Amino acid sequence: MKLQRQELKDLMKHKMMQAGLHEDHAETTAEILTWSHERGYASHGAVRVEYYSERIFKGGITVDPKFTWTQTGPSTGIFDGDNGIGYVIAKEGMEKAIAMAKESGAAIVGMANMSHSGSIGYYTEMAAKEGLLAISFCQSDPMAIPYGGTEPFYGTNPISFAAPTADERTVVFDMATTVQAWGKILDKKSKHEPIPADWAVDEKGLPVTDPNLVNALVPIAGAKGYGLMMLVDVFSGVLLGVPYGKHVTSMYHDLSEPRQLGQMHIVIDPARFIGKEEFEKRMSACLDELGAVPAAEGYGKVYYPGERAVMRRDRYYATGGIDVVDELVDYLKGDAIHFDRYDHKNRFAE
Ligand code: NAI
Repeated sequence: MKLQRQELKDLMKHKMMQAGLHEDHAETTAEILTWSHERGYASHGAVRVEYYSERIFKGGITVDPKFTWTQTGPSTGIFDGDNGIGYVIAKEGMEKAIAMAKESGAAIVGMANMSHSGSIGYYTEMAAKEGLLAISFCQSDPMAIPYGGTEPFYGTNPISFAAPTADERTVVFDMATTVQAWGKILDKKSKHEPIPADWAVDEKGLPVTDPNLVNALVPIAGAKGYGLMMLVDVFSGVLLGVPYGKHVTSMYHDLSEPRQLGQMHIVIDPARFIGKEEFEKRMSACLDELGAVPAAEGYGKVYYPGERAVMRRDRYYATGGIDVVDELVDYLKGDAIHFDRYDHKNRFAE
């Protein structure tokens, strides 16, 4: 079914408010979920509302969090989110980082004690829209083997970076450090289809094509992706005093408990290097040159990171609205909230 942007956003906001989230936090969360969904990241859009609502209702997300901001140096600070909704904490953390980078040239802001914050490209894009460069990392629940291992240790630990240009284009790179998200494996399982051998491993840590035998996801590009996952966890977990690695809480384990996740934003003002205008001019030139690289057969053209997401968004609106599966729309529009779908499921719950 197709929904207009405002309609989808209002439905999500209303549902999370029914579960107990205050209006301002529900508004921010629904806005960021809409940003993801309209860019084609359906796995980080409306489908998440049912889970968040259950967690909000059960107390695993603090609805009246006491945020604490501690500036630890001219360019560093820690934002403690008191386990409120992750979207608001990551957004406020980025607002602090943007202000600090404008003041001192760079900012490194850690956010501790938060819940899931969704597509992290939203936050890096905020900085790029202010003419700044940004990187963000965050933890997620252990689902991936460390290279060569048999048991999950790290999460899908995403990395995003964003950069402005001299025109309307914004580079927003935003990826999980696992080859595939768990959602894609579930999709194959429901269709009784095999998965490619490089997506996941079984209990022995060996490649598996039967989705029913999956024990863990695998890092992108073997040992290299494993190193990137570790980087994310060191910067946003070990460094911030929140649980790290295999101690990170599972998304569906106990929805009445806080998740205590960590995230890190790093923001740089190009004015302190080559200068804002020159930087943006060079970025635009770079994207033009990338777009002019002849495409390999079957590829159409070379895209810059984030370009296709914006194209998906524009395509949605040119064709009457955002696609949301009917069942989800029924849930969002209905009176039922469902408080018994996710609690105590294992990490590979359907
Ligand atoms: P993806 O695989 O769809 O895209 C990864 C990156 O590659 C993007 O920056 C995209 O712009 C770029 N890209 C893809 N195809 C391209 C092409 N043909 N040419 C040029 N660039 C291209 O993303 P993935 O890894 O599936 O992640 C999806 C979302 O999930 C992200 O928003 C991420 O932040 C989010 N996520 C959040 C987690 C959390 O715990 N908060 C955990 C894991 C992922």
